Amino acid sequence: MKVLVVTRSGKELIKGGLELTDSATVADLQEAIHKRTRKYYPSRQRLTLPVQPGSKERPTVLHYKKNLSEYTNGSTSELTVVFKDLGPQVKYSTLFFFEYLGPLLLYPIFYYFPVYKYFGYKEERVSHPAQTYAMYYWCFHYFKRIMETFFVHRFSHATSPISNVFRNCAYYWSFGAFIAYFLNHPLYTPVSDLQMNIGFGFGIVCQVANFYCHLLLRNLRSPSGNGGYQIPRGFLFNIVTCANYTTEIYQWLGFNIATQTVAGYVFMIVAASIMTNWALGKHRRLKKLFDGKEGRPKYPRRWVILPPFL
Ligand SMILES: NC(=O)c1ccc[n+]([C@@H]2O[C@H](COP(=O)([O-])OP(=O)(O)OC[C@H]3O[C@@H](n4cnc5c(N)ncnc54)[C@H](OP(=O)(O)O)[C@@H]3O)[C@@H](O)[C@H]2O)c1
Repeated sequence: MKVLVVTRSGKELIKGGLELTDSATVADLQEAIHKRTRKYYPSRQRLTLPVQPGSKERPTVLHYKKNLSEYTNGSTSELTVVFKDLGPQVKYSTLFFFEYLGPLLLYPIFYYFPVYKYFGYKEERVSHPAQTYAMYYWCFHYFKRIMETFFVHRFSHATSPISNVFRNCAYYWSFGAFIAYFLNHPLYTPVSDLQMNIGFGFGIVCQVANFYCHLLLRNLRSPSGNGGYQIPRGFLFNIVTCANYTTEIYQWLGFNIATQTVAGYVFMIVAASIMTNWALGKHRRLKKLFDGKEGRPKYPRRWVILPPFL
């Protein structure tokens, strides 16, 4: 089979195209492109079928496991694919590791080191119990996320563009420093012991629930990450599609009840709006995949992220 590889502007990426066997897969084609270009390793390549000029239709993305013949529309002799360079890639676990490492390391610096003298505060800082517990709570949270990244999640995408490392690190690292600065500040005023205990207690319960949600999501896929998207079931997933995000938001609520800073609440609102956006997309995808037609199960009626509002 002859495969013509063109760029989005219509130029041939590989002059004269590539000759592959009729049983070749998309992964074989990606390897063949890599051999000829060196620069474009498989995870950097996005291959799609051409669309009619001016069409608003989304192009079909070629799946690396599928046979090329599945995309030829009956013709076995020739296929044209459109190539897009996704740019340098990093493993998903590397991306998550670096974004969580920042808050994990930055926060204790504000707690343990005399950083506030550089901001004009001369007196010795006395730590309130709320500040000490907050530091442990925070570090536990990000340590848990790193451990889950390596030992719990089964990602469907192997890699992510390297630019996401800089974007995500900027988000997590700056918010981490922002909250740590205000929470460990020498002028910080703690809440009552009762409020602190309720907040941290509720937050810990939500962190455990969040971990359990991640275990349930993990079990939807095989160890190699195969299995696509399934209907999450059990525990809070029986009432809400993105129960892992619900418990994530509530655990930040617990932290904020216990520590009460504007910075912490701002982070919670920003994180909740990001997760809400993602949750709407995930909910829509599951409803589309499980539409109850042609033998497919129907996605049950569920809240998206924050019952009883959404
Ligand atoms: N504070 C914040 O700003 C913030 C923001 C986002 C996340 N988080 C925390 O980080 C955790 C992980 O975030 P995330 O966005 O990666 O979560 P996620 O997309 O919901 O997924 C976690 C893992 O489960 C898989 N998964 C999700 N739904 C699935 C389904 N229906 N069938 C099969 N597998 C499924 C995902 O696969 P894919 O690889 O295919 O996605 C991913 O590997 C969250 O649960 C939350 O605790 C915090």
